[in-house]
Amino acid sequence: MNRAGNLIGSTDLHDSLENLRNRAAKRIDSAESLEELAVIESETIGKKSLIANARRELRGIAPEKRREIGQLINETAKSLSGGIEIRRVVLRSMVEESRLREDAADMTLPGRIPLRGAPHLIREVMNEIVDIFVSIGYSVITGPEAETDYYSFTALNIPPTHPARLSTDTLYLDYGDTPEGVNLRPHTSPMQVRHMEKHDPPVYVVVPGRVFRRDALDPTHSPVFHQVEGLAVDTDITFGDLKGTLAYFAQEFFGAKTRVKFLPSYFPFTEPSAEMHAYANGQWLELLGCGMVNPAVYEHVGYDPEKVTGFAFGMGVDRMAMVRHGVTDLRHLFDPDIRTLEQFR
Ligand code: DAH
Repeated sequence: MNRAGNLIGSTDLHDSLENLRNRAAKRIDSAESLEELAVIESETIGKKSLIANARRELRGIAPEKRREIGQLINETAKSLSGGIEIRRVVLRSMVEESRLREDAADMTLPGRIPLRGAPHLIREVMNEIVDIFVSIGYSVITGPEAETDYYSFTALNIPPTHPARLSTDTLYLDYGDTPEGVNLRPHTSPMQVRHMEKHDPPVYVVVPGRVFRRDALDPTHSPVFHQVEGLAVDTDITFGDLKGTLAYFAQEFFGAKTRVKFLPSYFPFTEPSAEMHAYANGQWLELLGCGMVNPAVYEHVGYDPEKVTGFAFGMGVDRMAMVRHGVTDLRHLFDPDIRTLEQFR
C-alpha cells in the first residue's frame, strides 16, 4: 500500500483486504457503545472508508481483473457489515438490559398498606342505636344544629323562665333581630315539632344528632355531645308501648337478659315523664329520658290531643359509647390522637 486508502495499487491486494478485515473486525467486536460502533462503521465501510476508496479505484482497472477484485472488495465489505450488525444487536440488548436493571422494582419488598379510615366510636354507637329502632319500623330524620327559640323551647312547652333557656346553659348565636333568638340546639327534641308540623300521624321517627350546651370539658361533660331522640305518635299508644319499646331497645343494645326500670321524672314536653335505667356491666345506669307526649306539644303542631297519643324519648350517645367500651373519661372520645382512636376499631 503506497498511501492510506490506495488498496488497488498495492502489490498484494488480497493480503491488504484480509488485513483490513481483521483489524476492523477486532475493533467492531470490542466496540463498547452504539456511538463507537457508528464511528467504526463509517471508517470501515462508510463513504470515506478504505472500502469506498477501493471501489472508486476499481473503475481504472483493466476489465479482466476488475471482476475478481470487485468480488474481493464486496466480500470484505459484506463480512464487515455483517459483523457490525451483530455487534449492534449485542450492544442494543446490553443497553436495554441495563435500563431494565435500573428501573427494576423489587417484588420481594413488603407492600405499603395505606391507613384506612373507620367510623368514630360515637358514630358507630349512634348507628347501632338508630339501627335497633329502624328494625322495628322507625324512620331516621335529621335537623338543623342552629335552632330558633321557638323549636328548642317554646313549642316543647318549656316556659320562658326555665333555667335551660338561660345563656349560662344554652349557647346563643348572634344572629337575627332578637337577642337569644337563635341557639345551638341543646337537645334533638326540636325535631319532634318540626316533623309533626309537616307530617300527619302515625309518626315513628328517630333523630340522631349533635347537640350543644354551655359546659366546660371535663371527664363527664362536653360542650358538644350527641343524642338520639325518638317519637312515636299514633291513635292509641299507651305507656305500656313506651315501656315495651324501650326495654326491647335496652335488650338489643346490652344483651337479651338486660333488666330495666322506670323511675318518675319531669320534662315539660312529656306527661307523665320517666327515666329508664338499665342494669348493665354490673351497675344500674340511667339510659334515657322519656314520657307520654304532652298534649301542649300537639297543640303547637296542629294535632288533635283528643285523637292521638304517643311517647317520646331522648338518650345521650356519648355516655352509652363510654359504657359500651369502658371509656372512663369523656375527653378521650374527642381526642384526635390516632393512637387513642385506633383502640376502638
Ligand atoms: N331532651 C331531653 C334532654 O336533652 C331528653 C328527653 C327526655 C327527650 C324526655 C325526650 C323525652 O323526648 O321524652 O335532656
